[in-house]
Amino acid sequence: MKVEGASAYGLPGDLEAVGVPVFQGPEGPQPASGVTADIAGADVPDVLDPVWCRRQGFTGKPGQTLVFHPVASATSRLPLLGAGGPGTDDRPRPSTVLVGLGEADALVGDQGLETLRRAAAAFVRTVGEGTAAALLLPRQLRLDVAAAAQAVAVGGALAGYRFETHKTGERPGRLARLVVTAEAPAEAVVAAGGAVRGARIAESVMLARDLVNEPPSRMTPQRFVEIFTRRFRDDPTMSVEVWDEHRIAEERLGGLLGVSRGSSQPPRMLRVEHTPPTPIEVDGRVPHLVLVGKGITFDSGGLSLKTPSGMETMKTDMAGAATVLCALDAAAALGSPMRITALTPLTENMPGGRATKPGDVLVARNGKTIEVLNTDAEGRLVLADALSLAAEAEPDAIIDVATLTGAVVVALGNEIAGLLANDDRLADDVSAAGSRAGERVWRLPLPEEYRSHIDSDVADMRNMGRAGQAGTIAAALLLAEFVGVVPWAHLDIAGTGRSSESTRYLAKGATGFGVRLLTDLATSETFARSLVRRG
Ligand code: BES
Ligand code: MN
Ligand code: ZN
Repeated sequence: MKVEGASAYGLPGDLEAVGVPVFQGPEGPQPASGVTADIAGADVPDVLDPVWCRRQGFTGKPGQTLVFHPVASATSRLPLLGAGGPGTDDRPRPSTVLVGLGEADALVGDQGLETLRRAAAAFVRTVGEGTAAALLLPRQLRLDVAAAAQAVAVGGALAGYRFETHKTGERPGRLARLVVTAEAPAEAVVAAGGAVRGARIAESVMLARDLVNEPPSRMTPQRFVEIFTRRFRDDPTMSVEVWDEHRIAEERLGGLLGVSRGSSQPPRMLRVEHTPPTPIEVDGRVPHLVLVGKGITFDSGGLSLKTPSGMETMKTDMAGAATVLCALDAAAALGSPMRITALTPLTENMPGGRATKPGDVLVARNGKTIEVLNTDAEGRLVLADALSLAAEAEPDAIIDVATLTGAVVVALGNEIAGLLANDDRLADDVSAAGSRAGERVWRLPLPEEYRSHIDSDVADMRNMGRAGQAGTIAAALLLAEFVGVVPWAHLDIAGTGRSSESTRYLAKGATGFGVRLLTDLATSETFARSLVRRG
């Protein structure tokens, strides 16, 4: 789906549907924008009959839609002023789709933006198939118009996502074009900018979804590396470095090597450096952010083998790697004020004859030793090396993203990611970005008292905590051993990386969770400045 902005007078002439925002008022549903829809040739009453609406089950609640279909032969009473121009009023008129936004007073702040994302998604799902549809922003928005249009674009574009690479035969049609419009011409220009930005962010989210949804035997470490090497090849702001299995051994990445031993696919370490063309400088230097993503292209559990059902979704275990690279992709396209490095350790976790065994001890990049008691706790082993490398670069902050623990699903479910950090301000910045972007996180503590949960009899630490106790925290406490003194935040997306149903702007399967949050941070000048002052 192509998503763009247009003024009310520049709407395409081949609109299938016009979405009219509707607030839930004390006297029933109230259209929040009308004139524009008339201009587009849609049929919009100035007032809605509350009794009739209620009979249709439409109250204007967020997420509700109600369609008016024009009579097939009916044509516009007004000359169409769209792309077709006046005189082309024999075109079929677009349907009107009332789109519920809830109470006008509630359409504020980050929650208001989320309401718009969901409303745009409901609109796109209601329209279904077609050439073009326009969604109007409400009049007198109490939100930043660009941010509102961005939210509509993101919600609309993502609701149109389907993974069909491996479907043959007839596929259901889709909406080809979504136009975001504001009624006032000056607002429409601002909205168009927001819509373009939202469409670009959605493109990177959908790339992440595609990579995660791809079958695991196709999305090997080597294939993953090739995709990004090609994608960034002609971009002079990106430099890509790939370490193969020999270099990984030379560089003493013992965690990554240990996990890869049971697989016939060789591991890779991918590093992408983004140097912005117009960076900001604070105290004479450019802020530097390192992103680290877990890239287990398939997690069988290794010798501590998972159950068949436990393995079904384990192609998702490279979602962290996909997320950080796709966020970097979007941030570079939209313009980032800071230097960003993405580091992704990539390997399968398999139980081959040379696999790491429970009881083995691995030596990570920073020299610390880890006793592997459960080969299924492999994410922390590959991240140990990647975080060590990240810390060696002495950046202003490190953020890692990983489908790390089943325990985070128990704690926070599928809607909220776990956030653990060694720095309160960084944690607050990540939380705030998540709230703005509509990707919620919730911080869990890193209590020193629980460090003993990962004490080992034979090595510096073991790779699992105590059965049934604070599994997400135990994993993060291990990661903390590898970031040194660098401000660091960890996002555990084991629950949020996949959706079990197609709902709102999610499709069943990969969600691309984290791309929007990280893109928000990576393009924020405020964040870039606070990175350096953190010191
Ligand atoms: N990749 C899994 C975590 C996971 C679980 C992701 C469910 C998505 C959905 C991770 O490698 C894992 O297996 N973790 C173990 C750790 C345990 C053995 C200490 C877990 O959480 O059970
Ligand atoms: Mn595992
Ligand atoms: Zn895993």
